[in-house]
Amino acid sequence: MHLVNDRPVRAPLGADSPEPVPSYAFDPADPWTQVFQAGLRRAGLRGRRVYEVGVGSGANVLFMLRECDASRVAGSDLDRRLPEVAHSLLARTAPELADRFRPVHGPVNLLDVHEAVTEAAAADVVVACLPQVPDPYDPLYDRFRTAQLRTAAHRGDPGEDHVAHYYPWTAFNDQPFNSVGMGLIEALLTRLKTVAPQAEVVLNLGCRIGKATLVQVLRSYGYRTEELASRIVRQHAGTDISFFAALENAMRGTGYEHDVRCEFYADPQGRTRLSAREATSLLDADPSAPVYHEICVLRGHPQAAATGATR
Ligand SMILES: C[S@@+](CC[C@H](N)C(=O)[O-])C[C@H]1O[C@@H](n2cnc3c(N)ncnc32)[C@H](O)[C@@H]1O
Repeated sequence: MHLVNDRPVRAPLGADSPEPVPSYAFDPADPWTQVFQAGLRRAGLRGRRVYEVGVGSGANVLFMLRECDASRVAGSDLDRRLPEVAHSLLARTAPELADRFRPVHGPVNLLDVHEAVTEAAAADVVVACLPQVPDPYDPLYDRFRTAQLRTAAHRGDPGEDHVAHYYPWTAFNDQPFNSVGMGLIEALLTRLKTVAPQAEVVLNLGCRIGKATLVQVLRSYGYRTEELASRIVRQHAGTDISFFAALENAMRGTGYEHDVRCEFYADPQGRTRLSAREATSLLDADPSAPVYHEICVLRGHPQAAATGATR
């Protein structure tokens, strides 16, 4: 790491380039990226057109073109710098593949610009790894958390990586599964029903609300689901997971507590379950405490008749 404009910046991904990569542009050695790529490897991308929502550093673009032999990848990001970063990563490390990548310049919120819609409409597969935790600065979330846990959120310095971990909860409150942190992803699925109903989706997902709930979300948007990869990983110390403790508390006594069960572990094998409240308390006391959760890659195959959430 080094500093640019007082911000920590990860070393360049291309070995010999001086160009800095924003600190949160995901590292190929990050377990989330590794699991995502294990899933992408199994997604049958050879000769197919892909759109990546939230393209990050471009590590997946490179992987899908070089290792999975996708015919073409287009991608965008809410952070306007990242499609450029992805483009230059490709130009430096695999120039022979660069003309098969189409960066959609941004900022692009999901698929909210014409070029993103056109590219996604032509895609066989749409892939994404998007935040599933409400922004601790969000006013609706602040009220929810305070009511459930009787304490204010740990806001701290939002930091440059905020957008990679959190989403604005209030903005997605009309989505049926926003209450379990799936509002941003639902908004993407809703958009895809209109823009790219033919496309498969491949999503890299945290399973902290339980895999059964993730499957239910995809099913309710008309996708048949298939698990492509999974691993138990350490909870990222920089992400405030008190949302899950508040959710667990809110569901107690409602009859839904067995349907949506937050899943954390005290060991990397997933043998010892922790409640979300226990996981949050452990990390509050010691950010290096061993707290784990599963991540998985789910593929959604579109089924013909579906039009939107059916919950
Ligand atoms: C967890 S990172 C994943 C990056 C990359 N896909 C990977 O797996 O290495 C999430 C990415 O989604 C982007 N993002 C967050 N909210 C978004 C939104 N509403 N629309 C588009 N991209 C978004 C972030 O800027 C970030 O690059």
